[in-house]
Amino acid sequence: MSGGTTLDDYTGRYAQRIGGMTASEIRALFAVANRPEVVSLAGGAPYTAALPLDAVGEMLKDLMSKNGAQALQYGIGQGLPELREQICELMADVGIDAAMGASPDDVVVTIGGQQALDLVSRLFLDPGDIVLAEGPTYVGALGAFQAAQAEVVHVAMDADGLIPESLEAAIAHLATQGRSAKFLYTIPTYQNPAGVTLSEERRERVLDICEREGLLVIEDDPYGRLSFGGQAPKPLRARRREGVFYLSTFSKTIAAGLRVGWILAPHAVRDKLVIATEAQILCPPHFSQYAVSTYLSTMPWREQIKTFSQLYSERRDTLLDSLADLMPPGMTWTRPDGGLFVWATLPEGLDAKAMVPRSIAARVAYVPGTGFYADGTGQRHLRLNFSFPPPDRIREGVRRLAGVIEQEMAMRAVFGSGVGNSAGSVWPGADNPGLA
Ligand SMILES: Cc1ncc(COP(=O)(O)O)c(C=O)c1O
Repeated sequence: MSGGTTLDDYTGRYAQRIGGMTASEIRALFAVANRPEVVSLAGGAPYTAALPLDAVGEMLKDLMSKNGAQALQYGIGQGLPELREQICELMADVGIDAAMGASPDDVVVTIGGQQALDLVSRLFLDPGDIVLAEGPTYVGALGAFQAAQAEVVHVAMDADGLIPESLEAAIAHLATQGRSAKFLYTIPTYQNPAGVTLSEERRERVLDICEREGLLVIEDDPYGRLSFGGQAPKPLRARRREGVFYLSTFSKTIAAGLRVGWILAPHAVRDKLVIATEAQILCPPHFSQYAVSTYLSTMPWREQIKTFSQLYSERRDTLLDSLADLMPPGMTWTRPDGGLFVWATLPEGLDAKAMVPRSIAARVAYVPGTGFYADGTGQRHLRLNFSFPPPDRIREGVRRLAGVIEQEMAMRAVFGSGVGNSAGSVWPGADNPGLA
């Protein structure tokens, strides 16, 4: 028997892999977090209201009148050739260019980065296979790996991203059990959920380790262009031609609703990806691909990314300042240089998941850290989003959250620690001064 509950008439009929599928903590939270009276720091949505919506409307009207019948037709599985060329131009900006072996022929357009993760999982993971991934990591990647019935082994991070020594230790530990991982999944730049970035020096070390160990790298890079002032380090794929698959998306740089992402894969793998995607979806949405392609060729997209980055940078500042002003002692958090998220660590003995109902009652929502670990650790952590709520709501949300945390601390002082702590968590959290 797999999947389902006694309330479900179909229990017993599901495929085995459905047994591992559970609603993510984020999904469960959305219903309440979206109520207007709740300040939601739980989401992960880009601020699409900052797009020039009228101009996008004109652009789409023009696309329809010039090329509507084509845009509304089926396309090919690998994706629109013009768009794949444009994707290569974009990747060349960050050092993934022809000299590094990037070509439109090796790009597969996907329905967002999420389908790219699903395809990679379908191609490489058998039930019981191991994936190494940062702890914490992107919840949608955990979902894709779990759907493939793979086991995720987390590798610790600190303020400079994935810790190379922890990667080596994880590989060595698996070897003592006669096991090895299929690949390393990493989000090196402005990580979701931790907000940290793998340093230049560590990029080389991580790549050297993976090369030496014959470990494939799946590099997920949705946020690299959303820098707040500085320049993000070059992607891993810009440093190695072989052994690194590069996944990205237009969700955070243009619009998540268009659902367009891509994979750059070695030639032989590209064929398999196309076969797998055709079996799954026939072709990525032609209309969306035309919309993205037209947007890239006719709209000031670089300026728009600057607009997003500027807005998010101001909101990041509001969140960091509010945390510094309002949070009780013992609380720590990361300081992202880009992206959408801050990762916070509660004072010792507090449990972010247990605190959710009280936070909702106080009309503030966040995602508890446990959602970002396959092994259920991360109790002391929470993810805070700053891209979507306006600054006054961010400050109000932090004020409410600080009140909840203070109450929890007071209860703990009176009744002792009945709540979980971070024992077993691979995230160094508050014990690591680099994260404070
Ligand atoms: C690290 C990471 N990868 C992939 C995705 C998937 O994004 P999309 O499917 O919208 O491209 C997200 C979305 O938040 C993400 O944070």
